[in-house]
Parts: sequence; structure tokens; C-alpha cells
Amino acid sequence: MALRLCLNATWRWQIDDVIQDSTAFGPQRAPDPKQQLQHQMHGFEKAAASLRTTTSSLPPFSNLSESDLMSPAKGAVCVTGAGGFLGSWVAHLLLSRNYLVRGTVRDPLDEKYAHLKQLPNASSNLELVKADLLDYPSLVSAIQGCSGVFHVASPVPSSSVSNPQVDLIEPAVTGTLNVLKACVETKVKRVVYVSSAAAVFMNPSWPDSQPMDESCWSDAEYCRATENWYYLSKTEAEIKAMEYAKANGLDVVSVCPNLIIGPLLKPTVNASTMVLTKLLKEGKDLEENKHHRVVDVRDVAEALVLVYEKPEAQGRYICTAHSIHVKDVVDILKEKYPNYNYPRNFTDGEEKKEMSSEKLQRQGWSYRSLQETLVDAVESYKKAGVLD
Ligand SMILES: NC(=O)c1ccc[n+]([C@@H]2O[C@H](COP(=O)([O-])OP(=O)(O)OC[C@H]3O[C@@H](n4cnc5c(N)ncnc54)[C@H](OP(=O)(O)O)[C@@H]3O)[C@@H](O)[C@H]2O)c1
Repeated sequence: MALRLCLNATWRWQIDDVIQDSTAFGPQRAPDPKQQLQHQMHGFEKAAASLRTTTSSLPPFSNLSESDLMSPAKGAVCVTGAGGFLGSWVAHLLLSRNYLVRGTVRDPLDEKYAHLKQLPNASSNLELVKADLLDYPSLVSAIQGCSGVFHVASPVPSSSVSNPQVDLIEPAVTGTLNVLKACVETKVKRVVYVSSAAAVFMNPSWPDSQPMDESCWSDAEYCRATENWYYLSKTEAEIKAMEYAKANGLDVVSVCPNLIIGPLLKPTVNASTMVLTKLLKEGKDLEENKHHRVVDVRDVAEALVLVYEKPEAQGRYICTAHSIHVKDVVDILKEKYPNYNYPRNFTDGEEKKEMSSEKLQRQGWSYRSLQETLVDAVESYKKAGVLD
């Protein structure tokens, strides 16, 4: 019943909007608005039927105010890759803030997305739709009726890929351009694009003494020559996204996080989470004492929603919190969890250039302590059984 009310109130308003927009494109795009409405209503009802109302035990975001939780729905937004590590937290935050969320996944019937249906407000305000980054019509359907898009989806491999062009570059670059084209076609007001520090720091000519800021771009040719394919995919995707936005008058703000860690909402482990789970499980005799810059997944979600909501936000924002070596991470973990199978010895690792999130902090962004991130992460791994 609650689902029907939602359908008739806010989503219905969005559907009406879609029809008005599509009639403006002429008969080729919208042959029969009534039929289209019925089709979309059917889609929403099917999605609604697949969601089960559950009392969620998931952790809320710590800094949500009473008014956030009680406010009327804020409008519809699309989250691409809503089933991923970061995408799930972005969907969670948006739902907690009373947005209507349409999340794209590649197979809505896959059990690996079940956690999304248990998020607070999901039973009334979340719709999961099937979309692939290389399937343009699926993106247009997913984005239609939304005033904002959080483009999170992109391949993040946990090991080397056999065909970088097909496995990484095309979904990242062509996929991002497809999302942006669909946003122009459907008159989206703002896109928040999840880039990466990978698009910032692969720049051998940046002076060692100067912390990297948003004016620093990874050198695509250097990424190619050193066969850093993921870095190349994110660098080319962000460059092309910004060019496309400028040429087409689309409002795109990009956020470039460093290594993202923190609690899992989903039951499976993504590439960046493996950095921690391996330290807890593998008991290596010798581990490289790598230097990482890390940020909590919940703080990244907060950054994305912050720049979405701030009209004055523009350009790119580096999103980084702590600069730390692997050995120090192990020492923090050992204090609270002494019995895991940690590395026994460390070799020196390469130092990385510093990076600053000052621009994002000036917008009001802050981040939690590393201790909080690590403890919440391990507790979530225990719950998900990924350390067994
Ligand atoms: N994790 C980090 O340390 C880190 C740091 C900086 C930036 N980022 C960026 O953050 C974003 C999310 O990463 P994550 O760590 O959350 O990784 P993740 O859990 O692996 O999520 C990646 C998401 O992208 C989707 N995806 C991949 N290829 C797709 C395609 N062809 N069509 C549609 N969807 C596709 C996946 O969908 P399925 O669910 O269908 O597989 C998944 O939901 C990425 O853009 C990544 O580059 C991550």
C-alpha cells in the first residue's frame, strides 16, 4: 500500500514530466505517451513488487539530522552501479535523505543486490533497473525522469585484465560518455561523476615538494607506457567527461577519491576492500610497507551528495583523508583484533606524493578517524563472513 501511495504521488509526478519531455522530441521517440505511461507504471509496479519492506538493522549515517529523516522526498536521482561497494553507500545516503533513487544494476534479479532492498526507505523510494554502460537505450530509460545522476559505475579489477581496451577502457570512457549523452537527452540538471585519484597522481612532472591539487592530471601516455590500465581508464574517462560537459553545457562535477575502505553493505568483496582483508587473512612472511592515501566509503558518499546539493560546486574535487603505511594500519588493527593472520615482516615501500582535499573541505566536507573506519570495516567483514 505504501508503495502505491509513493507511485501515485512523487514518482507519478516524475512520470508526467517524462511524458511532457518526450512528446517534445516528436513521434519517433514517443509514439504513444499513454502507452509509455502504462509501460513505465508497469515497470515501477514490478520494481515495487520486488522490494520487500524490512526493518533494517543497517547503520545510518552519523550526521543525519531529524529534519533530513523527516523531510519530504527531494526529487528523483539515478545512481549507476548502485550494487557496488561505493554505489550501495551512495544509494543508502540518498534514501536516508529522502531522495527517490533509481539504481542501475546489470541484473536486477541477481541475489547479490538483495542488500539494497533492505536499506531504510528502499521499500518506497528505491527502484532497481537493468542498465549496462555500453547499452545506450538502457541508460536513457534509467535516467529519464531524474533531475540528478550519480555516475558511479566503472570496472575496478582486482587483478590484471586480459584485454584492457575491452575490459576497462571502453566501459569507463564510452560508458561515461553514454551516461552524459543520456543526461543531455533527458535534461538532467547535475551529474556527479565518480572519477579517482588515479586520474590525478600519475603525473611524473608534478614537483615533489608540492601537494597535488585539482590542477594535477595523470598523464594518459605515461599510464599507457607503464601499462597502468585502470589509471588510464579513469584518466581518459574524466578528461573526456569534462570536455563533453563543456561542449554540451552539461553541469558535471567530478570527485576523485583515493583508495576507498570501510564497512561493506554488500555481501561480496570489491578490489579496494581486498587490500584490508588480505592483511587480516594472508599471514604473509614479507609484505611491502606501501604508502596509501585512504578515505572512508561513507565519507566519499557524503562528498558526492554534498557537491550535488551545493549549487556553487564546480569542476573536480580530490577526496582524500589519511596518509598511512601498511605497517601502521596493521598496528592499529592488531591493537583491537590481535588474533588475525597479519603479515610478519615488512620491506620498504615507495613513498607517494602528497595530495590535498582542501577544495572539498572548503565546501564543508569532513572525514572520520581512521580507527573508526578500520573497526567498522572489520566488524562488517565478520558479519559478511568474508574473513572465514
Ligand atoms: N574502491 C576504490 O578504492 C575507488 C577509488 C577511487 C575511485 N573509485 C571509483 O568508484 C566507483 C565504484 O567503485 P567500487 O570500489 O564501488 O567498485 P565495485 O564495487 O566493483 O563497483 C563497480 C560498479 O560498476 C559496475 N559496472 C562495471 N562495469 C559495468 C558496465 N559495463 N555496465 C554497468 N555497470 C558496470 C558494477 O556493476 P555490477 O554490480 O553489475 O558488477 C559495480 O556496481 C568506480 O567508478 C571506481 O573507479 C573507487
